[in-house]
Amino acid sequence: MNYSNILVEKNGKTAKITINRPKKLNALNKDTINELHMAFEALEADDQIRAIIITGSGDKAFVAGADITEFAHFDILEGAKLSKKGQKTLFDFIENLNTPVIAAINGFALGGGLELAMACHFRVASENAKMGLPEVSLGVIPGYGGTQRLPQLVGKGKAMEMIMTAGMITAEDAQNSGLVNHVVPQEELIPLCEKLAKKISYNSSTAISAAIKAVNANFKDGINGYDVEIKQFGKCFGTEDFDEGTTAFLEKRKPNF
Ligand code: COA
Repeated sequence: MNYSNILVEKNGKTAKITINRPKKLNALNKDTINELHMAFEALEADDQIRAIIITGSGDKAFVAGADITEFAHFDILEGAKLSKKGQKTLFDFIENLNTPVIAAINGFALGGGLELAMACHFRVASENAKMGLPEVSLGVIPGYGGTQRLPQLVGKGKAMEMIMTAGMITAEDAQNSGLVNHVVPQEELIPLCEKLAKKISYNSSTAISAAIKAVNANFKDGINGYDVEIKQFGKCFGTEDFDEGTTAFLEKRKPNF
């Protein structure tokens, strides 16, 4: 598949998606969101791929937000539609993938860029990264899940401050707040993400997918996460991976998933 705004590379069991609009600091326009959806869908269907890394091209930005030029003249209905469609096409879609997605935040992750990173299963940042939700400085609020996912990750008070001040936080502050898991020099960012992806790939993909469903259930209204855990836990017992994992342990060898 040829894309205009993203690059997709596969290396063994890991895939890397690079958002490739460096002149616009990788801002998310409609076409980029659609291409990302298609790329994630295709990688999810690829049995060889056990983890996906998403990053931005260049050394300055992960994603500097939704493309402001595209929505500057929208009215109320168009605004609501933009948010609803984006959440469904990309942000909720990533969060609910069976394949783990790691955000490699290599620079500015602002607005829709931070929302994209937060929709991923976890985040790693380079030392130069800056993160924030500056939407209220534009007279709007985060619309791609930011008002929900930021408090989940950093707590309500910190999220309120970040959203209300529209300010940026450093990678170090983001790590201290639980927004990113690791901070490394920029040249070590992709190697570390690849190392984490490789570690993931040694484990059972069916169990990982069940774990994603169970963890996500904690954040869904009207759903009892413990019930989802019980159901997913039980389902694991019917999988080939469970046979292989437990047999390998008893035979004192490494499992081959
Ligand atoms: N949407 C559209 N274009 C964007 C963009 C966005 N979110 N963020 C950056 N760009 C464009 C700029 O307009 C500029 O394009 P131009 O060269 O055609 O004028 C180009 O990317 C480079 O950005 P520039 O502002 O010149 O870089 P900088 O280093 O001076 O500043 C930022 C970097 C990230 C601080 C600044 O670009 C910025 O504030 N961007 C918007 C962030 C934002 O509000 N995001 C939330 C959107 S909801």
